[in-house]
Amino acid sequence: METVLVVGATGNIGTFAVTAALRSKRQVLAVVRNQKSGEKLVKNIGTSEGVTFVEADVVSDSGVRGVVEQVRAGKLPSFQHVFTCVGADYIPTALQDITTELLRDNMSRGFESNFFAYRDTIGYLLEQGKPATYTICTGAMGDLGWWPLPAMTQGPLFSMATAASRENEETNVRFNEIYLAMRVEVDEDAKQHGVTSTTEFAPLYEAILSRPEIRSSRVRVMSTADIKDIKYEKKSRQVEDL
Ligand SMILES: NC(=O)c1ccc[n+]([C@@H]2O[C@H](COP(=O)([O-])OP(=O)(O)OC[C@H]3O[C@@H](n4cnc5c(N)ncnc54)[C@H](OP(=O)(O)O)[C@@H]3O)[C@@H](O)[C@H]2O)c1
Repeated sequence: METVLVVGATGNIGTFAVTAALRSKRQVLAVVRNQKSGEKLVKNIGTSEGVTFVEADVVSDSGVRGVVEQVRAGKLPSFQHVFTCVGADYIPTALQDITTELLRDNMSRGFESNFFAYRDTIGYLLEQGKPATYTICTGAMGDLGWWPLPAMTQGPLFSMATAASRENEETNVRFNEIYLAMRVEVDEDAKQHGVTSTTEFAPLYEAILSRPEIRSSRVRVMSTADIKDIKYEKKSRQVEDL
C-alpha cells in the first residue's frame, strides 16, 4: 500500500490531505509537532487507523530531513507521495503594523518550512524512480493581498511551485500546486463558519493522486464546483507568455 507523507498534517488543509489519502486507500505518515496536535488530527478525522505519526519541528531546517533519515533507516514507512501545507497566521494586520518579529516568524512558518519540506523529500521521491507525486497548497490571498501577512507568505510559494513544476516536468514526480480561492476548514469549524469542510474538499486531492495527466500544474479552486470538475493549467511559462 502506498503512503502519503503530510507536512502540516494537523491544520485545515493537512486534515483535508489526510482524509483524501485515507479515502484513496493509502496510508499516511503524518508529521506533527507534538502529541496534542496529533490528537487534534485524530479527533478531526475520527480515526487513527492508517496513520503513522512522527514528531518533528518542521520549522527547523533539519526537521523533515530527520524524518526522511528515519524512513531510510526503515524506522518509518516508505512514502511515494508528499503533501505540504504548513501555515502561519491568518490575521488582517496592516503592512505598517507588522513587526520584524511577526514578519520573520510568518515567513519562517509560512514559507521556509514548506521549502525545507520540498528540498528534503524530493531527492527521496526521485531516487525511487517510480510514479510519485508532490502537492503543495497555496492561497489566492497571495494575489488579492487583502490580509498582507498571509498574502506575503504565498508569493515565494508561488515561485517555488513554478520552479518545482519546471524541474519535475520530465521526472517520475508529478508536482502540482493547489491554488485555493475559498476557505476550507476542518468539518466541525466549517459547519460553524459556513465554509467548505475538509471532507467535502477531499475528492480534489483524490483526483490529483489518481490522474497522471495532472502534472507540473496549478489546480485552481475558485468555488466548490471546481472540486469535482478540476481546472488545471501548466505552471511553466516562456518569457513571451508573461
Ligand atoms: N484553509 C484554507 O482555506 C486555505 C485557503 C487558501 C490557502 N491556504 C494555505 O494552506 C496553508 C495551510 O492553511 P491551513 O488553513 O491548513 O492552516 P492551519 O489550519 O493554521 O494549519 C497550519 C499547519 O501548520 C502547522 N504549524 C504552524 N506553525 C507551526 C510551528 N511553529 N511548528 C510546527 N507546526 C506548525 C500547524 O500545526 P499545529 O496544528 O500543531 O498548530 C498546522 O499543521 C497555508 O499556506 C494557507 O495559506 C489555506
